[in-house]
Amino acid sequence: MKAPEVPKTLKALVLCGGAGTRLRPITHTSAKQLVPVANKPVLFYGLEAIAAAGVTEAGIIVGDTAPEIRRAVGDGSRFGLRATYLRQNAPLGLAHAVQIARDFLGDDDFVMYLGDNFIVGGVTGVVDDFRRERPDARILLTRVADPTAFGVAELDATGRVVGLEEKPAVPKSDLALVGVYLFTPVVHEAVRAVVPSRRGELEITDALQWLLDQGRDVRATTISGYWKDTGNVTDMLEVNRTVLETLEPRIEGSVDPASEIIGRVRIDDGAKVFGSRVVGPAVVGAGTVIAGSYVGPFTSVAEDCRIEDSEIEYSIVLRGASVVGMRRIEVSLIGHHVEVTPSPRTHAVHRLVLGDHSKVQIP
Ligand code: TTP
Repeated sequence: MKAPEVPKTLKALVLCGGAGTRLRPITHTSAKQLVPVANKPVLFYGLEAIAAAGVTEAGIIVGDTAPEIRRAVGDGSRFGLRATYLRQNAPLGLAHAVQIARDFLGDDDFVMYLGDNFIVGGVTGVVDDFRRERPDARILLTRVADPTAFGVAELDATGRVVGLEEKPAVPKSDLALVGVYLFTPVVHEAVRAVVPSRRGELEITDALQWLLDQGRDVRATTISGYWKDTGNVTDMLEVNRTVLETLEPRIEGSVDPASEIIGRVRIDDGAKVFGSRVVGPAVVGAGTVIAGSYVGPFTSVAEDCRIEDSEIEYSIVLRGASVVGMRRIEVSLIGHHVEVTPSPRTHAVHRLVLGDHSKVQIP
């Protein structure tokens, strides 16, 4: 008689190192995993999803932004996780991150999660599938318009993974790898076998290809509802919109009688709204003042901001920024402590103080 199987421990490896070149200038001053979506760092959605899938031990790979990540995540207990920080001295690739985590992971299965990725609907379903079937590895795929910017998978007629390529010039499919992977300990052999790619990184796609070449069982789940930063803010605004659509409306801050709040709106404790119209879905963070303004749908205004005598819609405003006397701002990402104002008494003149890699459009 077969002995009942003891459920294997499944850990998480959450990648929060990296350079973040594509999300400059925001990542000049802060970790891209902490960029807020509906006023909550994108990383927190990932950690919540991991905890919801029944994982309790999370190894967090950190690089130059280690202090900031540690400050935000702490010991992990508020997510129901035990966080262990693993220092990666340089962003040498996702397979390199697995190498670094060797001792932490031991001989346990694990879910590897890229800390700047957002999966609508979480990961509980795929983690459950993996626990039940235990293939050597399971990857997640999603259909994308431009596969050349991603790791791309080729499947056979039965849906089995037969090949993988990192950012191919001529993609064999439109199925891009999502930043969530499930591994059994056999992956440790694979990450030791790969050599640096053209861009000098140890690629997880090469490690997966090595598993395939060894005749290992790599399965795929295709999902929809996936976001990865691409350097243009369009995707970020889109994911912000998606999350705001599910927002719990709640007014904890103060709203004066001259103001109007319409639809799905959250005004956090300590925020103040005077003589303004806020049309949801929208969120206004603690300590922020909205005065004489219109805040339109799909807008997230973070903490300690000032929106005065302005109109803003479909935008993200980060902590401490101010927008004063502006008609009208749309489809914008405004960084921490940025000041946006019209130029005083000068005609057809723009005065700009912009950080490196900033992008401005002026009519
Ligand atoms: P990427 O977006 O592939 O790389 P990057 O952060 O260097 O960004 P860019 O290409 O814009 O310069 O990384 C995906 C995630 O994995 C991200 O959260 C950073 C993390 N990461 C590591 O922790 N270690 C690494 O060696 C690499 C390459 C990424």
